[in-house]
Amino acid sequence: MNRREFIAWSGAGVVAASLPKLGVGAAALVEGDIEARIKSILPQLSLDEKISLMSGVLRKTLKEIATSGLRRGQGHGYTGYTVGIKRLGIPQIKCLDGPRGVGFFYRTTCFPVGMARGATFDPDLEEKVGEVMGYEARALGANMLLAPCINLLWHPRWGRAQESYGEDPQHLGAMGSAFTRGVQKHVMACVKHFAVNNVEDTRMKVDARVDERTLQEVFLPHFLRCVEAKAASFMSSYNHLNGPKAGQNRRLVREILKQEWGFEGFVVTDWITAIDNTIEAANAGVDLEMPEGRFYGKKLKAAVKAGQVPVAAIDEAVTRMLRQLFRFVTPDFEKGYTQKEIAGPKHAAVAREVAQKSAVLLKNQGPVLPFSGLKSLAVLGRLAKEDNLGDHGSSRVSSPRVINILDGIKQKAGGLQVSYGGESISEAKALAAKADAVVVVAGLGFKEEGEGHDREAMGLPPDQIELIRAAAGANRKCAVVLVAGSAVTMEGWLDEVPALLLAWYPGMEGGAAVAEILFGEVNPSGKLPIIFPKREDQLFPFENKALKIVYHGFHGYRWFDDKNLEPLFPFGFGLSYTEFKFGGLQLSEKEISKSGKLTVSVEVANTGKVAGEEVVQVYVGCVGSKVSRPKKELKAFARVKLDPGEKKTVSIEIPAQDLAFYDVASTSWVVEPIEYQILAGPSSRESDLLKDRFKVLS
Ligand code: BGC
Repeated sequence: MNRREFIAWSGAGVVAASLPKLGVGAAALVEGDIEARIKSILPQLSLDEKISLMSGVLRKTLKEIATSGLRRGQGHGYTGYTVGIKRLGIPQIKCLDGPRGVGFFYRTTCFPVGMARGATFDPDLEEKVGEVMGYEARALGANMLLAPCINLLWHPRWGRAQESYGEDPQHLGAMGSAFTRGVQKHVMACVKHFAVNNVEDTRMKVDARVDERTLQEVFLPHFLRCVEAKAASFMSSYNHLNGPKAGQNRRLVREILKQEWGFEGFVVTDWITAIDNTIEAANAGVDLEMPEGRFYGKKLKAAVKAGQVPVAAIDEAVTRMLRQLFRFVTPDFEKGYTQKEIAGPKHAAVAREVAQKSAVLLKNQGPVLPFSGLKSLAVLGRLAKEDNLGDHGSSRVSSPRVINILDGIKQKAGGLQVSYGGESISEAKALAAKADAVVVVAGLGFKEEGEGHDREAMGLPPDQIELIRAAAGANRKCAVVLVAGSAVTMEGWLDEVPALLLAWYPGMEGGAAVAEILFGEVNPSGKLPIIFPKREDQLFPFENKALKIVYHGFHGYRWFDDKNLEPLFPFGFGLSYTEFKFGGLQLSEKEISKSGKLTVSVEVANTGKVAGEEVVQVYVGCVGSKVSRPKKELKAFARVKLDPGEKKTVSIEIPAQDLAFYDVASTSWVVEPIEYQILAGPSSRESDLLKDRFKVLS
């Protein structure tokens, strides 16, 4: 497209100052041109046209499907789309779901679930994941991916735990913003679900009650990180927040997100029932109703005509959507994108790397793992041969091929004799007793946890516990591979088992990665992004049937610290086949100003025999704060790779601003001039952490 064609296409007659290259060969308007173009388009739009842009349309007929612009053989549609306005060159919004991969009409790369990816503690890798999903969405003609999901895991029985990255706002922010950056190299990201969407059973009607300080400090900081990463859109959640539905909550959407955070994108409702009041939603700042205009459309027009919704709110919504559409949907949007890449070797390799880095070795007595010198191996459990990729709700991905755990083990077995069974306990015992070692694949699936339904229990189903106990009783070289999207309690079986590898739902390449870890080709390096309690009664009750839940600011490791409880496995925990030693903690200063920053350095040495990766975690605690604070909070982390005998100094910066608490009285973030404790180490466990102190000056 030459310059003249470009200007004609833009419809506004705006002279583009320059056309920088973005994405794969896409020409984009520069920011100033976009704003000018929107300004010139707005007066050309009738009220009906503006309102038509503010809701999706449901494709109802086969003819519409046929004319939707999808290529032949490419399924039957998008998760949601708008009409666009050809006359003025306004493109349609076309959405596909995430966050496990591009769902679910197409056969795309299926990644390990979000919770697994959280366990990598590797934002750079997560950016690559986002890039792959963004590419695949765009190659399929979509321009918006409904991901990342960054609701924090408040209670491990939340049905959608697997879609999120974990329980900690700092960690969620790092992972979610990295993913957003990756996706947005190709299409618009949609950060969901805004906000305090933490149960499934009553998700459409529950009123989440959260005081302002808890909201700002615990439930929102990770969303802000995604705004800073220039997320194009946010999805408002189904639940109510402090009374109104989240999408009708003016304080949340208009004040916090749009005004205080300066969000430049648009807000879309979650699908179908996220809003129920036209005037409240439009005035609160929801820009787009999906998947169709039940409360926008005609009702919105009537509300504007009656003066209940100002035209300015309509213009603002249209402006926000056009701004993002013009940024992303460039004239040559499809150029350079090919569906051949979808789930191809390059993309599968990213899924494999994530599966390798996300598996968490929780126990390894003996050590039983990695297996070596075996002649025979028994693999037990129906989950070993299931393509168990996680939930079957909106995050479902139909992958063209899946390496399940049994296949993965067989492919890596070489001369090793692999027997599979375990339909009955007696058969399982016999197979385990005969083999040199045994692997039991146990865990959960979409029936136990998923969208729309919370987990009923935190333990494994009784038949699986029986299987594990039988196998471990028959063969001491027993490793359990656990498949789940959240924390599992392990009463009655963990003590019997010498080795435990948490694979999560490991994606289309998961079986291969698990086998690589079992046989020692890959050294496990995942870390828990959530705490694992010993028993459910260590936690506060999960009120998933309640219509009103009061959320407090102490969940996960903060709760365990506050109550002095010992978890089964701490947040940030994960073993390796090598040994890491931490030492030489150093703080760049003993005193910093409120606008200053501190550099924390720590030495990590690989004192074992194989190369490995470790995650350095830096927590901060306050000494003598005037408000109640968690004992410690994660402030930063870094992954480091070390050969045997190698030692590295890892330096991490902590700005004083990150130590602030939200002061409700002054509605501002306050850094207290007090003493702070730095705690650095390989997990959040007290005995793992090196400590030092510094002061913030008044
Ligand atoms: C889910 C969203 C999803 C949307 C579209 C909703 O039910 O909560 O996460 O993006 O459906 O499938």
